[in-house]
Amino acid sequence: MSNVVVVGTQWGDEGKGKITDYLAQEAEVVVRYQGGNNAGHTIVFNGETYALHLLPSGVLSKNKVNIMANGMVINLKALVEEIEGLKSRGIDNINLKISNRAHIILPFHIELDGAYEDLAGKKKIGTTKKGIGPTYTDKHFRCGIRMGDLLDLDYLKERIENIVRIKKISEKVEISAQKIYNEVVQFSDIVKNMICDTSLLLNEALENGKKVLFEGAQGIMLCIDHGTYPFVTSSSPTAAAVPLYTGVAPAYINNVLGITKAYTTRVGEGAFPTEFEDETAKTIREVGHEYGTTTKRPRRIGWLDTVVLKYSKRVSGINGLSIMLLDVLTGIKTLKICTAYKLDGEIINTLPSIVDHLELVEPIYEELPGWDEDITNVKNFDQLPQNAQDYLKKIEELTKIKIKIFSVGPDREQTVVMEKIL
Ligand code: GDP
Ligand code: IMO
Ligand code: MG
Repeated sequence: MSNVVVVGTQWGDEGKGKITDYLAQEAEVVVRYQGGNNAGHTIVFNGETYALHLLPSGVLSKNKVNIMANGMVINLKALVEEIEGLKSRGIDNINLKISNRAHIILPFHIELDGAYEDLAGKKKIGTTKKGIGPTYTDKHFRCGIRMGDLLDLDYLKERIENIVRIKKISEKVEISAQKIYNEVVQFSDIVKNMICDTSLLLNEALENGKKVLFEGAQGIMLCIDHGTYPFVTSSSPTAAAVPLYTGVAPAYINNVLGITKAYTTRVGEGAFPTEFEDETAKTIREVGHEYGTTTKRPRRIGWLDTVVLKYSKRVSGINGLSIMLLDVLTGIKTLKICTAYKLDGEIINTLPSIVDHLELVEPIYEELPGWDEDITNVKNFDQLPQNAQDYLKKIEELTKIKIKIFSVGPDREQTVVMEKIL
């Protein structure tokens, strides 16, 4: 296969960064296709830990083209800080290309994100407050500012004056065209040589048989269309969104790797059927360092939910799984896997569209015995304890998706590939 989409199958933080970095060693082009610095993708190798928020996870591998595609929303200050941060650690020459059609997060978007959350009080979404929702809103309202606008400062000024006019009618925010212009152009010298038509570049790469890796952010349960609305992000992480968010033909997208934690986590508010909070959950949180990469909030913990995985498979065409953080389950006596839900006395196998109904579902569990052996140095499937093998086989049986990779620690080396991806 000459390309693959890496997509989170749960509520984000499944380990997409780790796997994208791992697969990037084989790829020639790595593309982040949506979201912004609400994402936090962690990569560990050579004893160093990197947390990327905006840059594609190919930046730590040599000689890759790294693309930030049109589906992204970009905070310029955060981007420049991320680029400088890598430079200070000896990583430059990241060969970054930024779509001229990607949208820019403006300071008032961030302010509004916080203000909307405060206004919502108890009903808040629990966003990352990075301005993601307001920026995608303005994109769809057709008043957004795009990266390519930086290449024509007169046009940029016009666009900023337009958005300020609109915001003055509809919002009570303090807003000045000159301030926004200054804020945006101060980064122009650093980024302007990177801005181009990345769709053109990508199509050329694909036509020439180059290996392309598409890196999603968030997870399908946070998808604006298919997620647990309204407790979702404002873009779609699904593989279906890749053609739109990158400007390539849908026919190219047929290899989709679903990144899946061996259990489930969620940050922010919203229904979470398999959530539990007891000593085992606390252990998982501590052993798995389940605290947000971006916001540092403790992540909510739940058992693996195959209703969610089957749903993600259906809406995103997943044909392989990468099971992450398997090592975190070591030492747990009994493991539970959710196989279906019960709602109003009826068994259901999918997610209801109304989030209040999802709050009411009772998960039906199958229990499996755990294992005590340290698996962090395991190099192949046969080296896993029998109970860990059975746990993986059960996931395959319930989801009917082949497990192609499993991961037994955060390091690049702690990755077991059972079927070649690229
Ligand atoms: P992403 O947003 O999907 O890229 O995931 P995050 O980086 O936000 O969260 C995943 C966390 O799990 C990070 O701290 C990773 O370093 C860590 N991680 C990834 N794979 C494994 C694994 O197999 N075992 C353990 N123990 N940690 C892992
Ligand atoms: P990665 O790519 C986990 C969640 C927020 C909140 C909801 C909306 O690291 O997996 P937003 O700021 O996007 O408007 O917040 O989505 N969220 C994430 N949760 N991982 C992420 O990214 C997330 N990005 C957004 O916590 O519930
Ligand atoms: Mg993350």
